[in-house]
Amino acid sequence: MTIHDFTSQPSLLHQFIAELRDVSIQKDSMRFRRNIERVGEILSYECSKVLENTTETVTTPLGTKEMIIPKKDIVICSILRAGLPLHQGILNYFDHAENAFVSAYRDHMDDGDAFEIVVNYMAAPSLEGKTLLLVDPMLATGRTMKNVYEVLLQQGTPKNIHIISVLGSMQGVDFVQENFPKNTHLWIAAVDDVLNSRGYIVPGLGDAGDLAYGTKRS
Ligand code: URA
Repeated sequence: MTIHDFTSQPSLLHQFIAELRDVSIQKDSMRFRRNIERVGEILSYECSKVLENTTETVTTPLGTKEMIIPKKDIVICSILRAGLPLHQGILNYFDHAENAFVSAYRDHMDDGDAFEIVVNYMAAPSLEGKTLLLVDPMLATGRTMKNVYEVLLQQGTPKNIHIISVLGSMQGVDFVQENFPKNTHLWIAAVDDVLNSRGYIVPGLGDAGDLAYGTKRS
């Protein structure tokens, strides 16, 4: 796996991450969603630098020009519900992409710390031979990403896989590195050291789904 971790590369990206983490700013859910989108836009641009290209001839009012542009073989797949604003940010840039949605949740048996990942909905086009952008804002344990990927393989085997995340843990990064094909790329804006006993990233930012869309009944 090739890891593109922007944690220690100073840029505007970190202003958006700082606002996502900040307890007083993150309460503004519209800003929270937009900041996730903005991170998605920046990571899309970074990712576009390594995608397969194609040449297209463009007709201008004064002539023609050969342009090298990313191949239009991209499927963006996000994990509901927290993945939605990141999906939108990526779709803002890869606006020709096809789209896939999978729902997954953590089932905390007996309300303890242990949990199973339940994947219970998928709407996806064929993935055979395509470039899959697999999107989840929080790469905590990495188990959701792996379970979702295994379910997605029912739709065909993608040629290239790019995992795109806003914030991760070292454990999650190690897990995807061990469990995804070698040619996978991981694009991640920031990585924290610790996961707590319930699988939340510390210091992290809290529950990305709740911050974007409101608290849920447990
Ligand atoms: N999902 C979240 O929303 N936050 C975490 O810290 C981990 C998983």
